[in-house]
Amino acid sequence: MIYLFYIAFYISIVHKCCGVTVEKAGPAPIESTNPTLAEEQAFLQLFGNGDPDEAASCGQLIESRGFQYERYYVTTKDGYILQNFRIINRYAREARKTLKPVLLLHPLFTSCAAWLFNSPAALGFLLANLGYDVWIINVRGTSYSTNHTHLDPEDPEFWDYSFYEIGIYDVTATVEHIKNETGFEKIIVIGFSQGTFQMITQMSLMPWFQDNYDIVILVTPGGFLGDFGAFASVPNKPIQEMLSLSNGPFPSDSAFVFGSLAVLCAQQLTNPICINFFEEAFGFNRKQLNASRTNVYASLIDRTSKKNLLHIFQSVERDHLSFFDNGEVKNYALYGSAEPPEFPFYNINPNKLIFMSGLNDQVIDQRNVQKFRNSLCDRVETDHIIQDPYWNHGDYALALEAYEYFGSVVVDLIRERDDLTECKLNLSGN
Ligand SMILES: *[C@@H]1O[C@H](CO)[C@@H](O)[C@H](O)[C@H]1NC(C)=O
Ligand SMILES: *[C@@H]1O[C@H](CO)[C@@H](O)[C@H](O)[C@H]1NC(C)=O
Ligand SMILES: *[C@@H]1O[C@H](CO)[C@@H](O)[C@H](O)[C@H]1NC(C)=O
Ligand SMILES: *[C@@H]1O[C@H](CO)[C@@H](O)[C@H](O)[C@H]1NC(C)=O
Repeated sequence: MIYLFYIAFYISIVHKCCGVTVEKAGPAPIESTNPTLAEEQAFLQLFGNGDPDEAASCGQLIESRGFQYERYYVTTKDGYILQNFRIINRYAREARKTLKPVLLLHPLFTSCAAWLFNSPAALGFLLANLGYDVWIINVRGTSYSTNHTHLDPEDPEFWDYSFYEIGIYDVTATVEHIKNETGFEKIIVIGFSQGTFQMITQMSLMPWFQDNYDIVILVTPGGFLGDFGAFASVPNKPIQEMLSLSNGPFPSDSAFVFGSLAVLCAQQLTNPICINFFEEAFGFNRKQLNASRTNVYASLIDRTSKKNLLHIFQSVERDHLSFFDNGEVKNYALYGSAEPPEFPFYNINPNKLIFMSGLNDQVIDQRNVQKFRNSLCDRVETDHIIQDPYWNHGDYALALEAYEYFGSVVVDLIRERDDLTECKLNLSGN
């Protein structure tokens, strides 16, 4: 994870010092819905390797695989306007009202693309193909969801949030919106990495809201981040100090940073550096990584807020997801104690939880998953450990065998709970 940090920082400096700028190449079709990605596409039209997936928007990824999509703007209670996607399986369009909704929550430094860019086995398409109504969030601050009812993204105040607000406001508003649109009382949620921080936060602090879920699949459950794993292996205090200097997006020019990284990945000479970077930053399993697609993956990395990273590094230091630490004085005012309180994991209903974790995860270490298991008030409903001893953090999104080890398992787990499906799809009639 930290390498991403260094590279982003380095490229930003080169960008600033050497005055490298990009001419906008004509009007891009996605300009209004994702200006950052449009800018990156223009850059990669000049310097990229011509792969149509490079810097592709989620709408473009969905259509290129033969599906259709709908875009929904969802406004949170604190005014952020999220741009969410829904995959439409054209062969099940008529039966849509009967399809069980599944909400996918992407990891840190990604967006909706994380569920779509793997080839050949992205979970979003797998579920849509099998007759699920797939909804994909883009949390606040990603290049898709940089709008607000009254805050300007140029203003540091817009970036004053972390996974806490994402869990409490973004996920909540999205779930309510899906229920309202579909008429289903309960939905299935699948969170991966930061997606699990958000769910753990929400389930701990809003236990009543768990009624809205049939099951919650936590892929790499991250209740504890200390001692082991990528976040814990870097100098915590200096990073926290750097992140506290000012609020804003990280990286500040994501189109240029990730566009440049994609160019680096596409060149034969620099591809090994790029692969190394991916392994160090996200923990990939080399035999599962398609080296010829790293440029696509790099081009689709997304941004977050510095405060979110700061909250994550605080969580590493405390080794327990907790409220944000604002310093003693403000903590007293906000929480009535000098230290920020830990999130009450005992509020989480383990009967609704499915864990998926790997033995070689370099980001959410199995020993931390074990601590989280022990912190819950009961055993989780299902505790699946991926049957590949080298399975690493990024593999859920990128592995060549993501279907064999991950996607097919998710599908089986959902199907085994068949009674969850309030209406069944009957394709024989149409
Ligand atoms: C941001 O949201 C406001 C309020 O809904 C809307 O009027 C405006 O067009 C949006 N801006 C962008 C760039 O989407
Ligand atoms: C629920 O759906 C109705 C009808 O589609 C719409 O008018 C209303 O604004 C929606 N409410 C929310 C909270 O999305
Ligand atoms: C790896 O990616 C390249 C470029 O997208 C593609 O042509 C190739 O088929 C992929 N290999 C595998 C094993 O999927
Ligand atoms: C499915 O639809 C067909 C045609 O409308 C009907 O004959 C059949 O009984 C239905 N099957 C079920 C299980 O409802």
